[in-house]
Amino acid sequence: MKAYLNAPIKEVITKFPEVAGILTSYDIGCVPCAVGTCLLKDVVTIHNISENKKAELMYRVEKAIYPDRQIAKPVPVAEQPGSKKEVLRYSPPLKALVDEHDLIKRLLKSVPGIAKYLRKNPALDKELVLNIVDFIRKYADKLHHAKEEDILFKYFDGNSDVLKTMLADHTSGREHVKSVVKALNENDRESIILHLEGYAALLTEHIRKEDEILYPWMDRGLSVSQVGELFTKFNEVDTVTQKGVAEKYRKSIELMEEQIITE
Ligand SMILES: [Fe+2]
Ligand SMILES: [Fe+2]
Repeated sequence: MKAYLNAPIKEVITKFPEVAGILTSYDIGCVPCAVGTCLLKDVVTIHNISENKKAELMYRVEKAIYPDRQIAKPVPVAEQPGSKKEVLRYSPPLKALVDEHDLIKRLLKSVPGIAKYLRKNPALDKELVLNIVDFIRKYADKLHHAKEEDILFKYFDGNSDVLKTMLADHTSGREHVKSVVKALNENDRESIILHLEGYAALLTEHIRKEDEILYPWMDRGLSVSQVGELFTKFNEVDTVTQKGVAEKYRKSIELMEEQIITE
């Protein structure tokens, strides 16, 4: 079993497909992850599930790998209040990142409406597309992802598979945006929509992973003084290097929402 605990999750799933269903039943979404190099043991550790659930999950995984082996079924132990999957609470700087996700999610939720709007109007509304690209590049990327990549992630092992997976999502998002711009230059409406939809699907899942898994895990590993440092550094971004950016793009999203609703 030890060998499988130290094996990349995709390898384990390929060899023992039943493991995919077991992980999914605990809300562990390794199956759609494109990277899949996280080790089985880390996948279990990083998720916010109770000790009893962890033991039960490992028992089921071990049974799937070694169906003929006698494995003792774990006996649930009395858990401390709060040790179950609980309401997510974040330190102030990580809560600020969760709050920034809200504005990004408003764009992601608008994508079906944007697609409808773009298809309905005979002339391609280039300004709307450019505004969306501008929001993604300046708010989602330059403000938010930069806080993650240049500040928060630096407190953790950059070679860890977890961070590599999150960075790979950021890179894929940037590729979608490049493709939107290319399609815009070619007046290719369907390709614009395709890449906006791709971006929305990618970021919806990415944000869910950060809110529910990555940030709570990071919070558990940060010391009080590191949380304070993060708070100060994020504050500096908001008030010095990226001053006024959040407010500007809040208005831009509101205008975009109004535009696609009223059309
Ligand atoms: Fe991210
Ligand atoms: Fe994020």
